[in-house]
Amino acid sequence: MARVAVTGGLSYSGRYLSKLLLDAGHSVVNLSSRSAPLASSPLLASDVAKVQTLPLDFTDERKLGSALEGCDVLYCTYWIRFARDGDTHSAAADRCAKLFDLARRVGVQRIVFTSHTHAREDSPYAYIAGKAQAAAALRSCGVPSYAIARPCGIFGDTAEESILMNNAAWVLRRVPLFLLAGTGQHRFQPIHVRDMAQLLYDLGRLTETDAGAGNGLSSRSRPSEERDACGPDAPTSLELFKHLGRAVGARGAVLAPGFLPTRLITKLTKPIDWWTGDVLLDGDDLDLLGSGLTVAEDPDDLAIRSRRSLLSWIEQVSPTLGNEYVSSVRRYYYAR
Ligand SMILES: NC(=O)c1ccc[n+]([C@@H]2O[C@H](COP(=O)([O-])OP(=O)(O)OC[C@H]3O[C@@H](n4cnc5c(N)ncnc54)[C@H](OP(=O)(O)O)[C@@H]3O)[C@@H](O)[C@H]2O)c1
Repeated sequence: MARVAVTGGLSYSGRYLSKLLLDAGHSVVNLSSRSAPLASSPLLASDVAKVQTLPLDFTDERKLGSALEGCDVLYCTYWIRFARDGDTHSAAADRCAKLFDLARRVGVQRIVFTSHTHAREDSPYAYIAGKAQAAAALRSCGVPSYAIARPCGIFGDTAEESILMNNAAWVLRRVPLFLLAGTGQHRFQPIHVRDMAQLLYDLGRLTETDAGAGNGLSSRSRPSEERDACGPDAPTSLELFKHLGRAVGARGAVLAPGFLPTRLITKLTKPIDWWTGDVLLDGDDLDLLGSGLTVAEDPDDLAIRSRRSLLSWIEQVSPTLGNEYVSSVRRYYYAR
């Protein structure tokens, strides 16, 4: 049994990870700045009661360091959705670097970080450039071993938890014409949240067990590793939104005429932002979706094929997808 720290251990993917950790008998420290979890499933009330919640307060290094004391593994899912109110993804990367350094100093043995597919420090997309900056800090921080998971999107369990899919369905249910930027031919290969949690859980194991030289088993420390966190379906955006439209019974057409720039599409969604008080489409997000970088770096990773299908999930939850709008700003910024 290990003591494990999870940033956002009662938030989205961290909540599903906490369930796996608790079921395996580990003790979980949730590092969070939320006053209350947004949802509990799949955790039972008895699971939540076992989780120790401590503040994820980057301004108080002493407290953050002592929160990590005695932990064997740190899972860092911490990130910011948008550059907002003067905060930036580069600053978020610096905060991750600080967390990694504190973890190493108090003796954490392994750190698992959620990055993004094709993250490079010189990327023009600030979200993934920041991820690459944080990943570089992890590689050089001196912790005994680390793992990096690379998702490009996470969906499931419920429609409400999957903001991108839900809000696209919300729009599809209401408009006669759904326009995509560019040709709509770039692929998107997200992972189901339960598969994401399982991958993180596996990446955080401290040892590998082998058949030993004698008749017993031996275990050895795990090396550092970096893996894609992608699912088996990689539809083009045109295929994806057509599928979504059909699944929710939308009557309008989904078109990618090829000449519409992302900036025009984001401008067209501004009335929705005004109505909902949200940011439906962040220009950078949309550019990233159309960049060809939202697919696995290692398509031959065999684990990808055994994961849950995005297109089947859309059909399963289609009666509830897009009935209600889900605000990212409320989820990530106001409901704290
Ligand atoms: N969801 C996706 O589609 C997607 C796609 C690509 C990569 N990823 C990456 O995968 C990881 C997990 O994603 P997730 O969707 O499961 O994230 P999440 O649980 O909603 O949030 C992950 C962590 O970031 C913190 N956080 C988020 N917004 C914050 C804010 N405005 N201020 C302070 N803390 C904030 C959360 O803190 P609290 O506990 O305080 O909420 C939590 O510790 C993230 O690193 C994300 O960048 C996700």
